[in-house]
Amino acid sequence: MDFSQLVNQRQSCRNYLEKQVEQEKILLCLEVARLAPSACNSQPWKFIVVNEISLKEKVARETYGKIAKFNQFSNQAPIIIVVVIEQGNFSEKIGTLLTDIEFAYIDLGIAVEHFCLQATELGLGTCILGWSNNKEIKQLLSIPKNKDIGLLITVGYPASDDIIPKTRKKLDEISEYNKYCK
Ligand SMILES: Cc1cc2nc3c(=O)[nH]c(=O)nc-3n(C[C@H](O)[C@H](O)[C@H](O)COP(=O)(O)O)c2cc1C
Repeated sequence: MDFSQLVNQRQSCRNYLEKQVEQEKILLCLEVARLAPSACNSQPWKFIVVNEISLKEKVARETYGKIAKFNQFSNQAPIIIVVVIEQGNFSEKIGTLLTDIEFAYIDLGIAVEHFCLQATELGLGTCILGWSNNKEIKQLLSIPKNKDIGLLITVGYPASDDIIPKTRKKLDEISEYNKYCK
């Protein structure tokens, strides 16, 4: 599969088979996430793999929207990855101070996408979750109070092979040459 095919195949999977994911596949996804770039190479992330069934169910429940009813699919996935933001190194902290840009969040997003693309290549489905009750999830996973959860990723085998055409802005809406015109 070439890279653009892989990018097209990566889609948010919200329907999973009842099939376990092989440990070596998760390890490969983690390895590829590990190689992601980060500001000042500070690698401010930790991936917690939640695969113990009752714990995973408790974490999944903390992703459900109570009123809007979103993320109700998350417990179908056999694995939920919780990505914790770790302290950046000294240079990244200085960079954030000087620019007022939270590089750690950008870094984490890149690493998460590495994970998801590798998972896609292995035939797995993923969905990045940005909405969750992080206070409760931190308690469930013994994550220290002073650390933040960045994103979660559901991982499993997709229930369908269909690739849904992507809804995206047009290229000329998101790119310009040499000048910001519109
Ligand atoms: C930072 C981030 C947070 C997201 N949070 C959620 C979420 O809480 N629940 C969900 O179902 N999808 C979530 N998504 C998935 C997006 O809805 C999805 O990527 C987008 O609609 C494009 O669809 P595609 O991933 O199928 O290409 C999130 C994606 C990102 C990048």
